Amino acid sequence: MLPWLLVFSLGLQAWGDSSWNKTQAKQISEELQQLLANISQLIEKGKLGLDDVFTMVSRQEWGAGAVGCSTRLTMPVDILVIHHVPGLECHNQTICSQRLRELQVYHTHNNSSCDVAYNFLVGDDGRVYEGVGWNVQGVHTQGYNNVSLGFAFFGTKEGHSPSPAALSTMEGLISYAVQKGYLSSRYIQPLLVKGENCLAPRQKASLKKACPSIVPRSAWGAGETHCPKLNLPAKYTIIIHTAGRTCNMSDECRLLVQDIQSLFMDRVKSCDIGYNFLVGQDGVIYEGVGWNFQGSHTFDYNDIALGIAFMGTFTGTPPNAAALEAAQDLIQCAVVEGYLTPNYLLVGHSDVANILSPGQALYNIIRTWPHFKP
Ligand SMILES: *[C@@H]1O[C@H](CO)[C@@H](O)[C@H](O)[C@H]1NC(C)=O
Ligand SMILES: *[C@@H]1O[C@H](CO)[C@@H](O)[C@H](O)[C@H]1NC(C)=O
Ligand SMILES: *[C@@H]1O[C@H](CO)[C@@H](O)[C@H](O)[C@H]1NC(C)=O
Ligand SMILES: *[C@@H]1O[C@H](CO)[C@@H](O)[C@H](O)[C@H]1NC(C)=O
Ligand SMILES: *[C@@H]1O[C@H](CO)[C@@H](O)[C@H](O)[C@H]1NC(C)=O
Ligand SMILES: *[C@@H]1O[C@H](CO)[C@@H](O)[C@H](O)[C@H]1NC(C)=O
Ligand SMILES: *[C@@H]1O[C@H](CO)[C@@H](O)[C@H](O)[C@H]1NC(C)=O
Repeated sequence: MLPWLLVFSLGLQAWGDSSWNKTQAKQISEELQQLLANISQLIEKGKLGLDDVFTMVSRQEWGAGAVGCSTRLTMPVDILVIHHVPGLECHNQTICSQRLRELQVYHTHNNSSCDVAYNFLVGDDGRVYEGVGWNVQGVHTQGYNNVSLGFAFFGTKEGHSPSPAALSTMEGLISYAVQKGYLSSRYIQPLLVKGENCLAPRQKASLKKACPSIVPRSAWGAGETHCPKLNLPAKYTIIIHTAGRTCNMSDECRLLVQDIQSLFMDRVKSCDIGYNFLVGQDGVIYEGVGWNFQGSHTFDYNDIALGIAFMGTFTGTPPNAAALEAAQDLIQCAVVEGYLTPNYLLVGHSDVANILSPGQALYNIIRTWPHFKP
């Protein structure tokens, strides 16, 4: 299983009447995402390491009540969930400790949790406050408590992200968790999960869309495929054009997909048609090798990317609206169904290969799509 980094905020209405709004949430969300992306990169590069120091305020030091939670957490965990608790701002150890004692009382008495809900908390004073610690499950994220560590920022004052000291401490804490084997280092990436007080309100509505209908392989005359398996969920979506003729009617499109398959198998000696899905100007999605198998579209990316090919040449004129919409629906569907990681990157074929695809007209359109990263 892949370790994920989940980020979301916990909407504890009880904590203050702060007029936390969506704009602010989005701002902070973006900053946090960037921070977490930075952290993952640094960890991948092995740059974060032993010199990451932070000051830990122990339970005893902040005056915690008795430890209430006792369910053990099996290390290393694959998932890190980062919360923030609006209304809980504090800037020095005295106040942070006081706030934390209040939070513990709230979690245990008002929310019937066994203890303060998080494994660790980070204050704007740049200190780490011990919650239930490394080895015990918190009660921060239903369904994830037994497989994740939950870290939280104390508050996020209206319109502000955590202080620079808090951000850098969080970075140190995560790095430390990886170094010490509490958190798996294999693969960490932010994944937005929607909570009550959602950090990514924009994505919420769009994720509800239904999947488009997909013309299966059997309908265009293909048999089983024997290509290697894709590593799911895929991390990239690559937009491609086939740079040949196009089609705008169902029969015509099925024939074209067959021809493209022959081209790949006969001329390129590929295991199958080279794309995961193809899009016709009839506004319909045709299954290529599908969700579970690797295409052969982009060297070095086939095992981690979904290759979506628009059939036709789109240098001067872009695909029609129906085709563009079908492709976008397919991408959203991929996220909803778990074939594509929610923080996937969308790229044009030419961004990852030395090739003139997907055509300038189409490229100009996809660069406005969500998750585009040239
Ligand atoms: C959200 O808060 C910001 C900063 O306080 C403010 O500028 C903006 O108008 C608020 N937006 C809404 C929708 O209340
Ligand atoms: C992430 O890294 C970029 C590039 O190094 C830097 O400009 C940015 O400030 C960093 N963001 C955070 C939140 O640390
Ligand atoms: C901590 O902060 C509070 C309020 O911000 C302030 O009143 C208090 O003097 C500070 N204490 C210390 C030790 O700095
Ligand atoms: C917690 O519960 C107590 C008593 O049940 C109540 O007086 C208090 O207001 C509650 N606190 C919050 C923050 O909801
Ligand atoms: C508090 O209780 C609510 C409702 O049961 C739950 O959704 C939430 O996750 C709890 N929060 C914490 C921090 O335990
Ligand atoms: C975590 O809890 C879920 C649901 O109770 C369970 O299915 C899963 O096996 C548990 N995982 C671990 C690692 O304990
Ligand atoms: C399909 O394409 C042909 C040739 O480009 C064009 O003449 C025709 O109007 C198109 N049909 C539809 C339904 O778009």
